[in-house]
Amino acid sequence: MALLPILQHPDPRLRQKALPVTVFDASLQQLIEDMFETMYDAPGVGLAATQVGVMLRLAVMDCAPKDAPPERQVLINPEILESSERIDMEEGCLSVPDTNEKVPRFNRLRMRALDRNGTPYEIEAEGLLAQAIQHEIDHLDGKLYIDYLSSVKRERINKKLRKQRQVA
Ligand code: NI
Repeated sequence: MALLPILQHPDPRLRQKALPVTVFDASLQQLIEDMFETMYDAPGVGLAATQVGVMLRLAVMDCAPKDAPPERQVLINPEILESSERIDMEEGCLSVPDTNEKVPRFNRLRMRALDRNGTPYEIEAEGLLAQAIQHEIDHLDGKLYIDYLSSVKRERINKKLRKQRQVA
């Protein structure tokens, strides 16, 4: 297993649209394991392949509460079938460090995806899980949650990140 470097905004690779996964081989399984390790280490509740520079429609998630047993979830070629209850939810991203903002999300949705062996499954999600699914699918389309903010707010965040990189 290996920790993978997480790309940071404004890396242009975070803006690329990922391609569907078609091959379910050992190297895909290795990538999934490495992504889980990287996500837990960060720590975060979700990580998209695009965030580690792999342009495949793949994300890993674990939205279990802190003291509960892990709920490892693999999303491959995910699709939202239905969504409802638009609300504002506080959000952050491992590629946009030290920033949290409220963005509009659907509180409920139904998603279809493939598991790590290529078998289709469907889930109904609400709350944090629904939010994380939308966030990760956005990553696979080259979108970041800060895209939902006003340009003034986004520029403030960009400025802060530029400053942080200068002192680092
Ligand atoms: Ni993210």
